[in-house]
Parts: sequence; C-alpha cells; structure tokens
Amino acid sequence: MHEFPVRPAALAATLFATAGAAHAADSVESAGKARYLQECAFCHGDDAKGNGPFALLLKKQPTDLTRLAQANGGQFPFDKVFASVDGRTRPLAHGTAEMPIWGQEWRLEEGAGAEAALRGRLLEVMMYLRSIQQK
Ligand code: HEC
Repeated sequence: MHEFPVRPAALAATLFATAGAAHAADSVESAGKARYLQECAFCHGDDAKGNGPFALLLKKQPTDLTRLAQANGGQFPFDKVFASVDGRTRPLAHGTAEMPIWGQEWRLEEGAGAEAALRGRLLEVMMYLRSIQQK
C-alpha cells in the first residue's frame, strides 16, 4: 500500500469549521453535482447508478455510485472513495483501469497551489457522492 498523500478527513474538518458551515456545505455539494454531471455522468449515469451512455463501450460496468455506503456496512467510505477517484495511488497491476485518473486530469494549475486546487475539486465531488447514498 502506498501512503496516501492527503488526509481527506482533515480537509473536510477544516471545511466544516468555517463560519456558515451548513450553507458552505450546500454550495460545495452543488458544485460537486455540476462537476459530476459534466464529467462522470456519461459513464456512471445521471442518476449515478452505473449506466451512462458511454457504459456500453466499456469492458467493465461503471460502479453504482449510490451504493458505496451500502457496500460498506452503511458508512460512506470517504477515504477509499477519495483515493479511488483521485486515482494516482491506484495500483498498476489492477488490470486495465477504464476510469480516468482524476488526480491527473484535474491538476490543472502549476506550482504551489496546484495540489490544493485539485483537492478542492475532489472534495466537491465527494460531498455530492456522499449526499446521494441510498439507505
Ligand atoms: C470513462 C468512463 C468513466 C468516467 C468518465 C468516470 N468513471 Fe468512475 N468508474 C468507471 C468504471 C468502468 C468503474 C469500475 C471499474 C473500475 O474500478 O475501474 C468506475 C468506478 C468508480 C468508482 C468506484 C471505485 C472503487 O474503488 O470501487 C468511483 C467512486 C467512481 N468511479 C467515481 C467516479 C467519479 C466521481 C467520476 C467523475 C469525476 C467518474 N467516476 C468518472 C468509469 C468511469
């Protein structure tokens, strides 16, 4: 196992500690939804159940993203999902990964702020995914 370079829980804690936490969380979530619909839905589907239009062309069915908590005893597995969406620590021996490595795709800026901006993008999507988990 590689050591994962960020601590999502710590990041989330910082985010929630800011004033107007509930409102901030709402807008983070809706930014995540917009990003999801733009970049994830064509594989995972608008409803995140794994049947977007592009799914037919893939060898592996995209994961039903509304059941990540269910598959983990009712707890949304934040760290695991964060790491797999980031993708940079994905083991190469894990076969052909059809899912883009968002930790590379979204690392657009250069220099010192790049990693922070990337984590912001990942967090937005995480907040959205967490909000759509089926009970
Ligand atoms: C090109 C198609 C494609 C796109 C676009 C895509 N995914 Fe995926 N995704 C997949 C496939 C296929 C799998 C299941 C197979 C695998 O694990 O590689 C998957 C698996 C996942 C998993 C489960 C991983 C695990 O460890 O079980 C998560 C979470 C996920 N995707 C989130 C996202 C998010 C968030 C986005 C948008 C930022 C996204 N995906 C965009 C194809 C895609």
